[in-house]
Amino acid sequence: MEKFRIFGDHRLTGTVRVSGAKNAALPCLAASLLTREPVRLSGLPRVRDILTMEKVLRALGEHCAHKNGTTTVVMGQATNTHAPYELVRTMRASVLVLGPLLAARRQARVALPGGCAIGARPIDFHLAALARLGAHIRLEHGDVVAEAPRGLFGAEITFPRVTVTGTENLLMAATLARGRTVLKGCAREPEVVDLATMLSRMGARISGAGTEVIEVEGVDQLAGCAHTVIPDRIEAGTYLMAALMVGNGVRIEGCLPQHLAAVLEVLEAAGAQVTAEPEALVVPPQETGLRGFALATREYPGFPTDLQAQAMALATQAEGLSEIVENIFENRFQHVLELKRLGADIAVAGHKAVVRGPCKLQGTTVMASDLRASAALVLAGLVAEGETVVDRIYHLDRGYEAMEVKLSSLGARIERFNPGPFL
Ligand code: EPZ
Repeated sequence: MEKFRIFGDHRLTGTVRVSGAKNAALPCLAASLLTREPVRLSGLPRVRDILTMEKVLRALGEHCAHKNGTTTVVMGQATNTHAPYELVRTMRASVLVLGPLLAARRQARVALPGGCAIGARPIDFHLAALARLGAHIRLEHGDVVAEAPRGLFGAEITFPRVTVTGTENLLMAATLARGRTVLKGCAREPEVVDLATMLSRMGARISGAGTEVIEVEGVDQLAGCAHTVIPDRIEAGTYLMAALMVGNGVRIEGCLPQHLAAVLEVLEAAGAQVTAEPEALVVPPQETGLRGFALATREYPGFPTDLQAQAMALATQAEGLSEIVENIFENRFQHVLELKRLGADIAVAGHKAVVRGPCKLQGTTVMASDLRASAALVLAGLVAEGETVVDRIYHLDRGYEAMEVKLSSLGARIERFNPGPFL
């Protein structure tokens, strides 16, 4: 099982380029199911979750071809409507094929995703909303079986709680539903807006993406399109925090700072010096250390839960107490115990973690538990004294493109190794 070996206290300098957003690429790939014509997607990050989604699309009869940074997806002759468990269990976002399959093929069988490290993560909001569009849904041997023999019909839907992929599933389903659909309580994430942009290019009639209310006028069919996904704001935020921890002049290129407004607000209040350019963040050598800060994760445009673990690693180096509250997932403090193994001073009470800093971390072996916790452990390893080994970095490979290559290019001493089959 591959691991990272990191030697701490190497300063980062230079420019790192941000890849395309995994969480925009996944729904955009799923949206290719809505048309028989070719869809050409560019800027897809080379990460494992994208490969998994392509496997799901192939299992559904789509062909995926890659050339010069563009992935072309087109429907094959033999289509299928079953997304198998062995693929869905490796990536919950496979549930994003449910809405498009129902809309385009009027049936779908998608394995019910199990829980994951950060929480139960049910899809009840997705299913209830699809039923409102006229789908008949049942659970059968661990699969969600959904049918709409007469097609889908527009309806007014209010999500009980903001759900990113739930909004995306329903947005895709509504594009081919007869009549008008009004979605209330929608997620406002930039990735939702990016999906709506792509769907509009395919001929969908959507208004309100990026707000809490999205209206969709169904159409009979959608065309193919070419679309480039937005940059990954979570990757950009991760390198921003690395630069604040061990940077000596870092430029984060190809990102959209406006997607990180809540993050920049918290960090600047803590004394971080960061300059935002239209498509870059510039982190000069910091004149002073950070002061302790407070953050509470919220749906966009609030502080993203996907940067909570990384912020906790940063907080270990801030002066004084930092308070971190996780409001989105019920179990997203898996990284706390691993950070404490490195010497961090963190106390947890329910959904709140209090971090005391600055703390001299000492390298040791730690274990990744989920995608963003892995990133937090890498950041901690960059600042820890001596050698840190991060185990189970397959979690990291799901959502970060060549992280060790990008960090090494900035001067970090980090290497990927595989100690062999028994370790
Ligand atoms: C998306 O997950 C992201 N994944 C997650 O990123 C991100 O952490 C999350 O949104 C929150 O921002 C993708 O976009 C592929 P939710 P999603 O539905 O859509 C509860 C990463 O690291 N809920 O917005 O699955 C749910 O349990 C990943 O890239 C229900 O109860 O999250 C959670 O507590 C991790 N029933 C809350 O709502 C439902 O039907 C928000 O979940 C749906 C959600």
